[in-house]
Order: sequence, then C-alpha cells, then structure tokens
Amino acid sequence: MDDVTTDTADLVARRARLLGPAYRLFYDEPFHPVRGEGVWLYDAAGTPWLDAYNNVACVGHAQPRVVEAIARQAAVLNTHTRYLHDGILDYAERLLATMPSELGHATFTCTGSEANDLALRIAGAHTGGTGLVVTRWAYHGVTSALACASPSLGQYVRIGDHVRLVDAPAGGDIDTGRRFADGVRAAVADLRAHGLKPAALLVDTVFSSDGVFTGPPGFLAEAVAAIREAGGVFIADEVQPGFGRTGEAFWGFQRHGVVPDIATLGKPMGNGHPVAGLAVRPEVMRAFGQASRYFNTFGGNPVSMAAASAVLDVIQEEQLQRNALEVGRYLRERLAALAGRHALVGEVRGAGLFVGLELVADRATRAPATAQAARVVNGLRRRQVLLSATGPDAHVLKIRPPLVFRREHADLLVERLDEVLAETGRAGG
Ligand SMILES: Cc1ncc(COP(=O)(O)O)c(C=O)c1O
Repeated sequence: MDDVTTDTADLVARRARLLGPAYRLFYDEPFHPVRGEGVWLYDAAGTPWLDAYNNVACVGHAQPRVVEAIARQAAVLNTHTRYLHDGILDYAERLLATMPSELGHATFTCTGSEANDLALRIAGAHTGGTGLVVTRWAYHGVTSALACASPSLGQYVRIGDHVRLVDAPAGGDIDTGRRFADGVRAAVADLRAHGLKPAALLVDTVFSSDGVFTGPPGFLAEAVAAIREAGGVFIADEVQPGFGRTGEAFWGFQRHGVVPDIATLGKPMGNGHPVAGLAVRPEVMRAFGQASRYFNTFGGNPVSMAAASAVLDVIQEEQLQRNALEVGRYLRERLAALAGRHALVGEVRGAGLFVGLELVADRATRAPATAQAARVVNGLRRRQVLLSATGPDAHVLKIRPPLVFRREHADLLVERLDEVLAETGRAGG
C-alpha cells in the first residue's frame, strides 16, 4: 500500500514538473489505472474499477476488434487523404448512412475541437456572418475560436465579442423549447444591434456541460427554426451524445426531430483512437469548398478509418444502441428510487446511457448541493466507481459509461451510490 501511495505522489510531482500548471487531475486522490477491459479499469494491484464515466471507450476499453483493426491497418499502410484510399470512402459511406440523407458530405479531423472549428469556418463561408450563439455553460473545444465560445472554461477565457450566450433548456416541461428559442431570438437581436450577422447556433444536443438537459424530445426544433430565420445555420455538436449513446436515436439531434446543417463528431468515434469529423449538407459546404482547400495531416488516415469502422461494426453487431436504451432506462429508474431514501437526490435526467443526477441541498428551492456532489464523486472513487459532476454549480453527477454497461453494472453503481449518499447525508451540508 505504501508503495502505491509513493508511486502516486511521485507521478503527481513528475506531472507538475514536466507538464506544467494547466493540466488538472480528477479526484482528491488521483487515480492511476494501468489496464482497461470492457467497463473496467484496473490499477497496478489488479483491483477492478467500474468506469461509469468514459464515453470515449464506447464499445469498451481495449475492445479486441478495434485493437486488431488498428494493428492490422498499421502493419499495411498509413498515409493521408491526398492519396486515394478505399478506407475513408467506405467509412464515409457507412457513417453517412447512419445520418439523414440531407447530410451528404463527411470531413475528417483528429479531435472534436478541430471538427467544431471547421464547422464554424464552413458556417461563416456559407452565411457571410460571424455571430455565434451557444449556451451559457457550453464547452465546444480547445482552439481559440472555440475557447471564446466555451464559457464553462471559466473566467480566464474571455467570451468573444461575436458570441452570445443563452440559458440552457432546463425545466423539462412543455415550454422548454419555447423558452430556449426565445433566448436564441434575443441573442440574434442583440447580435444585430451590434452590427453582427448571425452565422450559427452551436449546441451539444444533450447539453452535457450545462448539466445534462434531454427532455422533452423535440425541444430543439423551435430554436433551430429561429436561427435559420435569422440567416444562420444549426450546428449539432454530437461529440458527447453521438454513436447511439442516447438509446432513442443514433444521433442526439434525431431525438429532436431536426436535421442540422452540420453535425460534428468526436470522442467515441475511434474508441480512444483520435478520430473525429463532421457531416454537412452539400449546399452548406459549397462556399467553403470553393474558396478554400482542406487538408488535415492525420485526419481520415487509413488507420483512423479502420478504427472508426471497427467501432461501428461493434456498435451495430452488439446492438449497443438498444443496450443504451434499456440499461439507461433501468439505471434512471433505480437512481430515481434513491430519492425516497436520500434528501440530496433531486432530478434524474438523461437519455440512454447519458444520465445526469442532480443533487440538491433543498428540494423546495433546488439549491445546488455543490460541496456534497464533490464528496459523492470522491466517495464513489474510494469505492472503485468512477464518475464526475457537471453543470455551472458542479452539482449534477454525470454518468456516461461505455455502451457495454449492463444491468449488473448499473446495480453495482446504484448500490455504491446508495452507501455514499447515506454517508454524505449524515455528514450534512
Ligand atoms: C460537447 C463537446 N464538444 C467538443 C469537444 C472537444 O473535443 P476534443 O477534446 O476531442 O477536442 C468536447 C470535449 O470534451 C465536448 O464535450
């Protein structure tokens, strides 16, 4: 045990020395996994940790078919998109087949940030505008263009003069869509009042960093109509909800009955291999494509396409979208039942295996239980369960495990959460 503790302290010190001050670690006691398999991460002592957080490893950690596909292609050829290759075309065909037919072109990048950055450039070229509308606690990526439209990065990142923030669609009632669209209309009016032409509404279609807002399905439609009326495009950021996670649909935007102008993709697409991209309506892509060339040294390379293709194989053959629907529903029911035993439990939100559990200090006022949420996250970490908290007050437990999460894993999570909530409730606010 002492060796493990020393090892952790050494690694933390080495990180600080080598990587500098901008990196952050999860948990009061940092976690050091050395191996992964399915929904499990293992530490050096061989102890299994239930991963209820990693949506990147969507088909499971170290999934053998994905590993094999990467290794096989890497042993044959890895080049770039300025040579002809079947892999990128086969994958583009398969990817676009999962989307509405209006989204006719695919473009590949290495990260979700690059995909969103490119989407903004495409939107700008198509609309001739620069104005951008995002939610009040959005996160869309690391580039300069996205950091200035990612208020969840905190006070040190300045929001761009061309960016307007709207309240996330909270409430879950029948007027959620109307309120959200009113916010978008007000943002558009303010852009215009400042002489700016709207280019896009960019939202994560499960509003993950805002605190997970998924209902009622359909609430996005009026806001999408509003941005289009204003001459802008709708960019669906599918980096979090995409690839079947919401259970009800393969893409988050589909739950809302809308077809975006651009859908950006990332995280789960390569199960950890860095591959991302976007799908776009050809007529929206035209102006950008005519004015500019696109080349991304690594984006769309044969190894990345082999990885992404193997991920689609596993999702489809193992029916992981259906698993997300069924296990997600079961998990939310069990979490909601905890409300009868723990005053801290507020609302349970989510779709499929994207779940937000709001912790409240007072049910009547819904005052956020921020400190308690941090204790719950760390308490679960001490019981070998990994998850985190989200939202502006960091009081919503964010539960988005690999899609191979089954009922027995949900049971284990709920059992440990029950213990931790009891402990946290006893300790008081
Ligand atoms: C909604 C959303 N969009 C974009 C990104 C950026 O993706 P990446 O970290 O691959 O650049 C993230 C990453 O967390 C995200 O959550």
